Amino acid sequence: MASWKCVWITGGGSGIGLEVAKQLVAKGVRVIISGRNAEKLQLACEMVKKTTSYDLMDYIVCDVGDLASVKAAWQTLLEKHPLPDLVILNAGDHQPVGVDDFDPAIFERLMQVNFLGVIYCLAQVIPAFCQAGKGQIAVVASVAGYQGLPTASAYGASKAALINATEALYPELKLKGVELSLINPGFVRTPLTDKNTFDMPFLIDPEPAAACILKGLAQKKFEIAFPTRFVILLKLLKRLPYSIYFSLTKHLIPK
Ligand SMILES: NC(=O)c1ccc[n+]([C@@H]2O[C@H](COP(=O)([O-])OP(=O)(O)OC[C@H]3O[C@@H](n4cnc5c(N)ncnc54)[C@H](OP(=O)(O)O)[C@@H]3O)[C@@H](O)[C@H]2O)c1
Repeated sequence: MASWKCVWITGGGSGIGLEVAKQLVAKGVRVIISGRNAEKLQLACEMVKKTTSYDLMDYIVCDVGDLASVKAAWQTLLEKHPLPDLVILNAGDHQPVGVDDFDPAIFERLMQVNFLGVIYCLAQVIPAFCQAGKGQIAVVASVAGYQGLPTASAYGASKAALINATEALYPELKLKGVELSLINPGFVRTPLTDKNTFDMPFLIDPEPAAACILKGLAQKKFEIAFPTRFVILLKLLKRLPYSIYFSLTKHLIPK
């Protein structure tokens, strides 16, 4: 584990974010989690305190899709805690969309939360970290951002935008002493995937996912993608000619 002292995790009230928070607190790291639901965040803090015996977790309510809310949360965080040395921009949502229920509102909502939500947080964190000449930022995208997959046109596009923006920002931030990592999970068992009705290949639990994220961040890796076999498969698929690619992905269209 790296020498983090204070970590901010958006979307830390459940799933991957909560498990990362728990593993950090268990190592004595102070963690501030954010989300929209105060009660859920408070319960998460109590659960982590009980399971780790460390009272190191705090929460700040923040809707990442609302710039004013993000600005206010960042101010509150800096008033109550030291400048974090690691920020994990993990809040996100998923909703499938097909051609029969094609609704721009789904695209607007997922872009607002998954993409702009990260941008709004980066707009607070980047100036503070650049001024300090240090800091580490992790952006949680998804392997669904690698290429277009049936029913993931809204979710996948929001994650593809994140992958692109993160790649674009990396070299400049590096010059300023700020580390940037891109986290691309495959399927992880969380409230987000519990809604899926299809078989999820290479599904893993949040514990190994969080351990993999923290190991990669400690090594300051740029891309942290898992599980490895699923990632290799998807990266190979991306290299196929479209004619072959579409002959395979058509089997993913829900019946
Ligand atoms: N699970 C997977 O298989 C998988 C795969 C690839 C990528 N991911 C990504 O991993 C991240 C975490 O997802 P998860 O699987 O752990 O799902 P999750 O348990 O549903 O966690 C998502 C968290 O984001 C928060 N959130 C949602 N909208 C928000 C908003 N507008 N403002 C602030 N917080 C918001 C939710 O809390 P509130 O609802 O209380 O605000 C929730 O705690 C997401 O970015 C997701 O896209 C997950």
